[in-house]
Amino acid sequence: MTTWSDRLSNWVGAPARISHAILVGVTIGASLSVSSISLLSYLYHRQRLLKDSEDQKESSPRPIELRGDGIVDGVAGSIGRTPLLRINSLSNVLGVEILGKAEFLNPGGSVKDRVALRIIDDAEQQGLLYPNQGFTIFEGTVGSTGISIATIAKARSASIIMPDDVAEEKSKALEALGARVEKVRPASIVDKKQFVNLAKQRALEYGKAAIHRSNDVTVSTAGNDDNLGSRSDPLVRGPRGFFADQFENRSNFDAHYEGTGPEIWQQTNGDVDAFVCGAGTGGTIAGIGKYLKEMNPEVRVVLADPEGSGLYNKIKFGVMFDKKESEGTKRRHQVDTVVEGIGINRLTKNFELGIPVIDDAYRITDAEAISMSRYLVQNDGLFLGSSSACNLVACVRLAKTLGRGSGSTITTILCDSGTRHYSKVNRLRRYRNDAYLENAGIPNDPNIMVKLLHDD
Ligand SMILES: Cc1ncc(COP(=O)(O)O)c(C=O)c1O
Repeated sequence: MTTWSDRLSNWVGAPARISHAILVGVTIGASLSVSSISLLSYLYHRQRLLKDSEDQKESSPRPIELRGDGIVDGVAGSIGRTPLLRINSLSNVLGVEILGKAEFLNPGGSVKDRVALRIIDDAEQQGLLYPNQGFTIFEGTVGSTGISIATIAKARSASIIMPDDVAEEKSKALEALGARVEKVRPASIVDKKQFVNLAKQRALEYGKAAIHRSNDVTVSTAGNDDNLGSRSDPLVRGPRGFFADQFENRSNFDAHYEGTGPEIWQQTNGDVDAFVCGAGTGGTIAGIGKYLKEMNPEVRVVLADPEGSGLYNKIKFGVMFDKKESEGTKRRHQVDTVVEGIGINRLTKNFELGIPVIDDAYRITDAEAISMSRYLVQNDGLFLGSSSACNLVACVRLAKTLGRGSGSTITTILCDSGTRHYSKVNRLRRYRNDAYLENAGIPNDPNIMVKLLHDD
């Protein structure tokens, strides 16, 4: 029988022994190359699998404890971890993802619950307040923060000073929560009777002595011991007046930097192109904006600023200035708009923390905010307050610049519910208030939304 080595020997004309050696060599060589190719291919695929599973680990949403089925620790335990809600109508028309953090679901009804809780927690940790020892928290607010403070501080110990032209739903809610409400005429911040200045003054008047701490927090005590701050002394632990100072107090920024910002990052799994928000104290835009920008410097942070506020010009041109102040068209006071909670004509410490991370600003008219608010009721069943509507108008403008159909993810804050603004903005059967808007010279024109969504 002719073997492979005989055939090879005949073919190459070499002795059979040499042909045999060649054949063995070729066979071993071929087997080695096949095995190394298989090994390499195995290693390559293994590497791919490992990488894929790592990518998957990174991209699969991590569980966030959102309104879970566990028991939470009272009112404070139910603050935060709010859903991130897709605004279907706007997202579908524009081909983007507009996602709103549903802060109106907090127990006190607004984004300010987080801030009030953090201010009180920080004050307790610093020994400025003691739980259940009888204290009064003073705050100057257009309402939301007051309601959150009254909710968290167990009502009886909140004293809220507010302008007399805010939606009356807010003062009613405060009274129902047992807070003392003092209404004052709207005034400039240089006026001692301006609501924030007055809140600080009332906090100092409350006690016999002011307690000074390095961080400028204003607290007075009814105790008269020199050794202020000692927990063991009942006089010192006695009733205190505490000025929450949401505009300047750093706890406000921290609540969002350490809370709302990380939640948005986690809920979008880091897939976020922009964050849009208005500013009252500035704590929300600064805290969330800074956090998101640190996680990804490409995230665009955009301010939504209502008429009459100076922040738009601060971001666009570096100066606090509003046209209405120079043209003799200035309305009764500086930020006179139907939009409550956002817009201001001074720089607060909380807003200053956000300036380096804010990329752009949009000026939003009252008419646009009102149209948006009504559009959302009709199309999404979302009954939101005016500052949320402002935020969403800015989201639509930004979506158009990022490109229709771009699929970009734009996040924002749904600060509070429309139930806080019946008398000003929303038109429901029992709460028609077109008369209010007509008196204020604000057009109620449904075409505004059509143009906003469809014109480029
Ligand atoms: C309803 C509402 N939206 C938005 C804001 C603004 O948030 P920030 O004070 O963090 O700028 C406020 C502030 O009081 C508010 O009351």
